[in-house]
Amino acid sequence: GSTPAKPMPSALTFDLHAKCSTTKARASTLHLPHGAVPLPIFMPVATQASLKGLTYDQLRNTGCMLCLNNTYHLGLKPGQAVLDQVGGAHRLQGWDRNLLTDSGGFQMVSLLKLAKVTEEGVRFLSPHDGTPMLLTPEHSISLQNSIGSDIIMQLDDVIATTTPDAARMQEAMERSVRWLDRCIDAHKYPERQNLFCIIQGGLDLDLRRRCCEEMVARDTPGIAIGGLSGGEAKAEYCKVVDTCTSLLPDDKPRYVMGVGYPEDLVVSVALGADMFDCVWPTRTARFGNAITPHGVINLRTTTFANDFAPIQQDCTCPCCRPKTDGGLGITRAFCHHLASKETVGAHLFVFPKNYSSRVKLSLMSSIRQAILEDRFPTFLLEFFDKFYGSRL
Ligand code: GUN
Repeated sequence: GSTPAKPMPSALTFDLHAKCSTTKARASTLHLPHGAVPLPIFMPVATQASLKGLTYDQLRNTGCMLCLNNTYHLGLKPGQAVLDQVGGAHRLQGWDRNLLTDSGGFQMVSLLKLAKVTEEGVRFLSPHDGTPMLLTPEHSISLQNSIGSDIIMQLDDVIATTTPDAARMQEAMERSVRWLDRCIDAHKYPERQNLFCIIQGGLDLDLRRRCCEEMVARDTPGIAIGGLSGGEAKAEYCKVVDTCTSLLPDDKPRYVMGVGYPEDLVVSVALGADMFDCVWPTRTARFGNAITPHGVINLRTTTFANDFAPIQQDCTCPCCRPKTDGGLGITRAFCHHLASKETVGAHLFVFPKNYSSRVKLSLMSSIRQAILEDRFPTFLLEFFDKFYGSRL
């Protein structure tokens, strides 16, 4: 049975503005210690306290109000002592808007082949010098307290949805609940950092339902749905998100972790989710891919070598800057040219990256506007028509 913990203070307020009348989509505002965040939101991932290839000015200029850092990476480098000295990750990186940190367990299990999960925590060998290390729920929260992120995530036991081991999946779900209780007890600053629980249970809807009940009883300021986007069929993914959101309170933000394809974002919003993150948009930009409302284009393709149009014809962002603005703008041909110069590519791919970040942000604000004006179902149809149906 559920053992509700002591009531937890919250460092957020959640204003629900509108609900779609035919889907489960919601438009809301999340007030966090470093500013108001319009939801639904896509949060870019600045793993090492920097968005690869994007300066903070550029990130600010996209309008981003909340981005991610990783506990696991910052805990190793610069490390807890430096974080404490400088006064947290906002100061470290000169970012005065909101930060969310993932707890580290997922990164360890997905990045390190040798990570081993026990009831105590996640055991692994330091990628720097090979010393054995242990990340416990208490240590993850202590690190996140030093980081000072506005939203901190519980340590969870994450298993690939595609695992055939049903008993292990149940164990991971139940352990994640026990670890949440340890995280709640260890959390030093609930009045300024919001701890989110993470619902696990793989593709088993009954496990997910039980996990929702346990997690909701703990009354954290926000709720995440984890363990997805690991290669499961879209229909299975949708059933899990739909099942969970139906059991979650209306008055708390819902975050689906690791989701970032444009088509998955619009569908997940329709299923009642509010927050998303993924490394895909920035990673794919480093490989020369620009995400546009008309689909994803790979600027390394030779057809772009002498294409002197901007990435997107009807776009007014600084990257596509129309000539009427006095600027020359950046052409697809120039992006193609940069992409073929491998040594400079990583940094100069800031162009499609900056552009894609903007497209993602404008996608989310279009979604929000459509919900507020109660025309989200029509928006959905138009989105898919444009994304898959039209040529750039
Ligand atoms: N990132 C993507 N999925 C997950 C998850 O299930 N748990 C955590 N902690 N991070 C994630």
